[in-house]
Amino acid sequence: MTDATPPRPPLDPTSLAGVTGGRVSYEVEVVAAAPSTNALAAARAQQGAAEGLVITAEHQTSGRGRLDRTWETPDRAALTLSVVLRPEVEPVRWPWLPLLVGVSVARSLRAVGAPAELKWPNDVLLDGRKVCGILVERIESAGGPAAVAGIGINVSTTAGELPIDAATSLALAGLDVDRTTLLATLLRTLGQTYTDWLADPAALRASYVDLCATVPGRRVRVELPDGTSTTGTTRDIAESGGLVVATERGDMTVNAGDVVHLRALEE
Ligand code: BTN
Repeated sequence: MTDATPPRPPLDPTSLAGVTGGRVSYEVEVVAAAPSTNALAAARAQQGAAEGLVITAEHQTSGRGRLDRTWETPDRAALTLSVVLRPEVEPVRWPWLPLLVGVSVARSLRAVGAPAELKWPNDVLLDGRKVCGILVERIESAGGPAAVAGIGINVSTTAGELPIDAATSLALAGLDVDRTTLLATLLRTLGQTYTDWLADPAALRASYVDLCATVPGRRVRVELPDGTSTTGTTRDIAESGGLVVATERGDMTVNAGDVVHLRALEE
């Protein structure tokens, strides 16, 4: 810890008991430390854990990020959690789940005073820097597929504790947010957003676009896994959840799973 490290109260499990959101009744387990809450929740989902199981770690020591990156957080500095969901929807709708989680996080951060925006597909930004990472993993289990929605939000993380310059925390943006309050808000919002999406899939797209800083009209370079890249101007979010980019060869739709980096270019 540095001298500038703020006080970091623990999560309060009693305040989280009985939290619900839409159709989801949560069962929240707080652990002192874990390599990865996604790994813990995935194992539990495989063993048949019901929708609504939440595992949150005060200290995550080797969390999983997108594209094999890691996500480690100092003790009590962040919210690191994984939620088990069991959406009974066609596979073609699954790519919307990470976007849905992004919408839920952005709404929750706005509810506690942080003007969060989304960077497609599902980074959550504050003042143009990443404040939250999201990793949704599909787990096969005897009771059917489950989604493990992993969310990491930098709450009181100091500049020295952040892994990259392009990251920030709520505290660095001047916000003193209680993690238990934020977690309860997030679970309620996620459950309601998810329940609304199950009933009316199309409505989420407009909500997503409203919160998204990536569309329309941003100059971007899309970097693909084969090392190639394409430059263009963002136009819209497709019904598939992909990003529509106008290039000199016409419109192309890129899917989240196919993109290594989406870089904003000088305008
Ligand atoms: C990204 O690369 O941006 C996604 C990072 C996701 C990190 C969260 S922290 C809680 C959950 N558990 C994990 O192991 N990863 C996710």
